[in-house]
Amino acid sequence: MSEQTINDKHFTAETAAKYDTPATFRLGKEVVLNILRYKHDKLALASATDNADGVNAFWAGKKVLDFACGTGITSLNLAPHVGQVVGVDISDEMLAVFNHKLQSTNNSKVSAHSINLLEEDDETMAAKAGPDELFNFDAVVSALAYHHIDDIDSASRAIYRQLNPKGGWAFVADLAKDTVNVVDKTSPNVPHPTGFSGAELAQTFHAAGFVNIDSSYSFVVDGIWDTEERISWFGKHHALSQDLPPLESDKHLSPLAVGLNKEIEGIRVYDVNPQPDNGGPPLYMYRMKFNVVVGQRLEE
Ligand SMILES: C[S@@+](CC[C@H](N)C(=O)[O-])C[C@H]1O[C@@H](n2cnc3c(N)ncnc32)[C@H](O)[C@@H]1O
Repeated sequence: MSEQTINDKHFTAETAAKYDTPATFRLGKEVVLNILRYKHDKLALASATDNADGVNAFWAGKKVLDFACGTGITSLNLAPHVGQVVGVDISDEMLAVFNHKLQSTNNSKVSAHSINLLEEDDETMAAKAGPDELFNFDAVVSALAYHHIDDIDSASRAIYRQLNPKGGWAFVADLAKDTVNVVDKTSPNVPHPTGFSGAELAQTFHAAGFVNIDSSYSFVVDGIWDTEERISWFGKHHALSQDLPPLESDKHLSPLAVGLNKEIEGIRVYDVNPQPDNGGPPLYMYRMKFNVVVGQRLEE
């Protein structure tokens, strides 16, 4: 099956229409902030000029590609901190949601295109998006997408090619593969439901030719609240790492709720809000760990 076919079966029109929720917005915001806060002595001088959100000074004014942008959550969270964001994705359903947002907000810093970076050549890309739009990026960011891509080496080569040959940087953040309670999960339309170890992410960047690779960075997003129905759907297609630091109870849970936890489709959830104010179904909190790989295109 081609990447397109596998992806179309998962990101159906129905999935795309339901993708944006308070949970995915909160998750996306946290993932982007963690990427923007990444420190590397070759990327930019450590702390001196970081902004109030702790964002590395590297990002100011940069042209950034959001690879596998989906409904634009990553792009729109990147936009305030960079010069320009261009999103690409192979799901027209997800892109339709993104483009609807762009039309309603008139956001001139952000654009999105239906492009298959793994297969389309420069001429086709230039014809679709203009001569400069999809080339010479200072940085590529990709969040929560590699586990949906069967041939991740091909994806790593593709993002390498779009980077500025003067040494652009790529950042791929995806589900951290569990090293404690190893779950062997398969899902027909999600090629890597268990995510990746840091070593696997480093390996794909090495194979693509990146230099200055660092895959030691990981972070946990706490406080993702969602309904049992949605967590159950997510858990059927993904396995989340349980190799997590202790939960800070005062940050996210009432003391009474600590310990009230169970599993939904293998995802550990915390019963934090059994009677939500909005009268909707109970919400459960869960936690997601990410591994990040960072690498630079070899300067020509
Ligand atoms: C879980 S969504 C993540 C979307 C977005 N990055 C975010 O964080 O909200 C995964 C996205 O990867 C896209 N995708 C999968 N395979 C792709 C490929 N080969 N090229 C581009 N996008 C792809 C899917 O269409 C989907 O929109």
